[in-house]
Amino acid sequence: MEVRLQKLIAGTGLASRRKAEAMIAEGRVMVNGRVITELGTKVDPGRDHVKVDGKHLTSAQPYVYVLLNKPKHVMSTLDDPGGRPTVKNLLHGVSVRVFPVGRLDFDSEGLMLLTNHGDLAQALLHPRYHVPKTYLIKVKGVLTDDEIRQLEQGVKLEDGMTSPAAVKKVKKAEANSWLEVTIGEGRKHQVKRMLEVVGHAVLKLVRVRMGPLSLGDLAPGEFRFLTDREANALRALVEQRLTSEQEGQPMRRRRKPSRRPAGWARPKRARAL
Ligand code: URA
Repeated sequence: MEVRLQKLIAGTGLASRRKAEAMIAEGRVMVNGRVITELGTKVDPGRDHVKVDGKHLTSAQPYVYVLLNKPKHVMSTLDDPGGRPTVKNLLHGVSVRVFPVGRLDFDSEGLMLLTNHGDLAQALLHPRYHVPKTYLIKVKGVLTDDEIRQLEQGVKLEDGMTSPAAVKKVKKAEANSWLEVTIGEGRKHQVKRMLEVVGHAVLKLVRVRMGPLSLGDLAPGEFRFLTDREANALRALVEQRLTSEQEGQPMRRRRKPSRRPAGWARPKRARAL
């Protein structure tokens, strides 16, 4: 994936973006053996050889991808002006500056990706790419099939209709029930607002999947680095979205909600909670 030269340099931690721009303008940066002074120049970190002051840049700092299980009552940001705990407090021993890819509410839990790979983060967050995110939710009451159908087809929120969602019944009890909801959008409080429209309060929300990544058995508050296979799958997803866009194909097929038989399954993840 191509990135702007100054961004690549800044992403390695060698210099701030502005300083990197100055370095380029001063002729201190070479790409594939040629001095580059133009600021908009794009390079592919996987293919191009970048040198700053004669030293290879790519060996300076590789991309880092962290998968965290955010516990509830922790901010999904790196700083909080209100002094509440943030995900940064949980990343013990991660010396590279990584940034959260998207948000989870203060009282939500689950999968968060943090990375220093800015372009990949931006692409994953872009509404155009519709990266699927799956939430395991506990709601007040039990949804009727008609309410589930409404969620699957899209409901009207104050900021517009939601795209079709996939909804799976997981488990029900007397007073509440568990569902798995998969959406491709990422609007603020989206899942809670969708459920509110059909008359059910969300009591607990855990993000369990995002694109090719799964939370698995990671305990709340713990993190791990992505495996090479996971990082490659993420990059492939972004590349594939970029390619289909360049080829003028629609970003996403609007899937018809599937007709599932009624009945409440109880998959593994619900038991683990
Ligand atoms: N939807 C919500 O309502 N909250 C979250 O934290 C994530 C998705």
